[in-house]
Amino acid sequence: MRLFLIVVMILTLISCSQSEQPNANAQVITFNATQDGSPLSIDASQFDTPAAKNFLHTGKNDYIGQADAIEKGKKLFQLYSCTQCHGGNAGGQTGPSLHGPNFNYAKDATNKGMFETIWHGTNGGMGAKGRGLMDPSDATAGLSPDEVLLIQAWIRSHNPSLSGN
Ligand code: HEC
Repeated sequence: MRLFLIVVMILTLISCSQSEQPNANAQVITFNATQDGSPLSIDASQFDTPAAKNFLHTGKNDYIGQADAIEKGKKLFQLYSCTQCHGGNAGGQTGPSLHGPNFNYAKDATNKGMFETIWHGTNGGMGAKGRGLMDPSDATAGLSPDEVLLIQAWIRSHNPSLSGN
């Protein structure tokens, strides 16, 4: 009986970890610059967490609605001074509100689209925040893909009717 339970536990663990690890050969989504739609190349090795890997394959943000992710995203939103332009609750200041559903860039209603805007910036006053792009002289500066997804969970938490997935 004990052995049976242990086997069941191991099998459950294996199936759980498999569901978090998308097939490495599965289709990878393509990213496009918000500026002009041109393709963006982002090294797949930067997608180094289960959520980031899943996003790379599906364009879906697993952190949406997750309380601990939202809390982490809130801290990053402050740390990266997003608050200075978008306000403490992302409701808008010199920069626009990020709550939606109406955006300067319609694609920001989707998590893939908003990821591209945060990663690579816009021509209208929003600088690229992606790692290696935020500060051209420092390849380590900027948000990792996982951190963009966490910030997005915080942004989306203000408008639960818009999950973006
Ligand atoms: C220096 C001011 C400034 C900072 C700092 C800043 N933004 Fe922005 N952001 C802007 C402005 C201005 C726009 C409008 C750009 C446009 O319309 O092209 C914008 C646009 C955006 C948009 C698109 C909104 C839409 O309506 O489509 C998103 C998403 C966004 N910012 C997220 C962020 C995040 C996340 C951070 C922090 C990592 C951040 N911004 C930091 C000024 C800023």
